[in-house]
Amino acid sequence: MNVIKFENEEQIGVAAGYYMCGQVLQKPDSVLGLATGSTPVKAYKHMIELYNQKAVDFSKVTTFNLDEYVNLDVRDRNSYHTFMYENLFDHINIPDRNINFLDGNAPDLEEECRAYERRIKRAGGIDIQLLGIGSNGHIAFNEPADSFQRWSHVVELKESTIKDNSRFFDNIEEVPTRAVTMGIGSIMQAKKILIIALGEHKAKAIKQLIDGNVTPSCPASVLQFHTDVTLMLDKGAASLI
Ligand code: PGA
Repeated sequence: MNVIKFENEEQIGVAAGYYMCGQVLQKPDSVLGLATGSTPVKAYKHMIELYNQKAVDFSKVTTFNLDEYVNLDVRDRNSYHTFMYENLFDHINIPDRNINFLDGNAPDLEEECRAYERRIKRAGGIDIQLLGIGSNGHIAFNEPADSFQRWSHVVELKESTIKDNSRFFDNIEEVPTRAVTMGIGSIMQAKKILIIALGEHKAKAIKQLIDGNVTPSCPASVLQFHTDVTLMLDKGAASLI
């Protein structure tokens, strides 16, 4: 694993923005796997800056987002759709038809998950998957469990994740308790993986990801088996390694 420590979040945003845009410069029709949460915000900000400087063109890019809440209106301010449009898609030129999300309101969620995998495959697979990591070691909504879930699936969120995410909602009761998420296999098939972690509350999960046992009780640990992983860490997230 390529572990890079940075002074602060701002620097990581610049480095991660360049990393993602570098992929698009090398391959204009890249397929990008994208993430939500506080972690990638600065990376998206820098991708927008590079686009505004005309350094990069996203018109041939395809995106797949990692996850979405179940039964939350896509127009809700807390949906991952809303997050992605506000933080990235509204500001760059990825055609709407090239933007893919799991639909948490699909009538048949299992079929929706299978169809999402087919869409990723048809697009030629993901070139770079951007990931955050949960304080409990989750990646996307692959929560700690007794076994790894391979492909996209429906998940019951853990109490710790509901608590972590409640900061975006008016109160904890409003946080959806289910989500649809890419699986560990979907993520591991990406050609490259870029993980960003910010803050001391991620330090334990980062330590386990780097040198702990590979176990579904820390889903991120499986990334030890991927051959092209870059970790960008701030001082807090790197404090135990
Ligand atoms: P965060 O979430 O970016 O809001 O910390 C990351 C994650 O849970 O994957």
